[in-house]
Amino acid sequence: MHLHKYEKIWLTLGIASLIVFLSVVGVSAFSQNHTPAGGMETIDPKKVNETAPFDNPGVTQLDDDTYQATIVAMAFGYNAPELRVPVGKEVIFKVTSTDVVHSFTIDNTKVNMMVVPGRITTKSYTFEKPGTYLILCNEYCGTGHHMMYTEIEVYEE
Ligand code: CUA
Repeated sequence: MHLHKYEKIWLTLGIASLIVFLSVVGVSAFSQNHTPAGGMETIDPKKVNETAPFDNPGVTQLDDDTYQATIVAMAFGYNAPELRVPVGKEVIFKVTSTDVVHSFTIDNTKVNMMVVPGRITTKSYTFEKPGTYLILCNEYCGTGHHMMYTEIEVYEE
């Protein structure tokens, strides 16, 4: 098979850049210890409502400075009654899905997680300002996707 000189150069550059970019991704993933978002905790998506802590969704206080918000995502909404947390305290969000892939995105914050059935997605966040924050689904999940939202109230103690 005969390859034209320019074609060889082009192929060499293409393969070389592929190797460089894949190496960058691989090396940084291992050296910085990247894991899938929210860790590796699993859950049976058919038994979410019977499995702690999702059998009792909502906000619970863990200690003086830490709260846990447990939320079940489903088409098309979030089961999380009375989402209220104090400002300046660590909130550990634990979210899972009972059906398809959703997201848990809190507007104007860095909280933006994928919610995958069978997995528990966890993210810790401390609100700096009081107010009402919009929580919405960023992952197209079906015909009611655009109606999938809720709110969290961050209050001053
Ligand atoms: Cu849930 Cu989009």
